[in-house]
Amino acid sequence: MSKILVTGATGNVGKYLIHQLLLDGHTVRAFCRNPELVDFPKNVEIISGDILKKDDVEKALNNIDKAFLLMSNDHGSIFSSALAVNKIKHVVLLSSYSVEIDWLSKNNFIAKHHIEGESLLIKNNIPYTFLRPSGFMTTAFQWMDSIKLQNKAFLPYPDLAHAIIHPEDIALCASIALGNDNHIGKSYLLTGPELITPRDQISILSKEIGKNIEVIQLSKDETIKSMSKNLPSIIVDSILELLESKPKIINVSENVKKLTNTKGIPFSTWAKENSHFFK
Ligand SMILES: NC(=O)c1ccc[n+]([C@@H]2O[C@H](COP(=O)([O-])OP(=O)(O)OC[C@H]3O[C@@H](n4cnc5c(N)ncnc54)[C@H](OP(=O)(O)O)[C@@H]3O)[C@@H](O)[C@H]2O)c1
Repeated sequence: MSKILVTGATGNVGKYLIHQLLLDGHTVRAFCRNPELVDFPKNVEIISGDILKKDDVEKALNNIDKAFLLMSNDHGSIFSSALAVNKIKHVVLLSSYSVEIDWLSKNNFIAKHHIEGESLLIKNNIPYTFLRPSGFMTTAFQWMDSIKLQNKAFLPYPDLAHAIIHPEDIALCASIALGNDNHIGKSYLLTGPELITPRDQISILSKEIGKNIEVIQLSKDETIKSMSKNLPSIIVDSILELLESKPKIINVSENVKKLTNTKGIPFSTWAKENSHFFK
């Protein structure tokens, strides 16, 4: 059993991963900025810090065997350098499916960011596994307010199919990778078990919540305006490129099935678990 550092411990994947690693018998150290806001299981060691601060990262890695690494704004540069010094046995990086899409332009920021993060680990000779998940099911939370307040969902590309993934499946794959050295040096595209459009997602949520949700299709200009409220233009452009280039973003991959020996969690399950947030 190993002592494992989990970055992004409060995030969509991290919160499931902590529980899974404890179940597997590992010792877990959770790294986050505001531990006082979080209710971690009692046997988790908590270390507060910022992934962009060298001292915090070095402290977090002290006496650690393995780590789960979330991409940070510096493409994981500080973390990768610290990993090299600390001789970590294995790092599982949460990368992105965008790395696998060869039709993206060389300037797509999201793809470049993750490619850079992966390259830094390789360059620093860190034993790695790259997990490259598709879009997370949790992205559906972006429709929460308009569904709650207006019974409407404003969708830029209602019929664009995507094999979205439940973060719990990513966490299970991460725990399996961290538990077995055979996964070192491997990269896995991870998706959910089905291709599903945003319109299908709304229909499933409608049934789960018990009310009709109207789908309103946004024009490209409206989409840009809406995304630009929260995101810098370089990210908006990258997301639009991902969304616009193909009628479906990414096919179902068998990797979740192969790694976990499960079918993978469908969106209907995510909707059941989270329907109370949309009421
Ligand atoms: N969302 C998707 O659809 C998608 C698809 C493919 C790949 N990915 C990859 O998955 C990653 C996480 O996805 P997410 O959007 O769902 O995010 P998230 O899980 O909500 O995670 C953000 C996490 O990062 C931590 N964090 C952020 N900045 C930090 C810093 N400077 N120092 C320490 N911790 C910091 C946050 O901790 P605090 O509690 O401290 O805020 C939080 O736990 C993305 O960055 C991307 O690389 C996402």
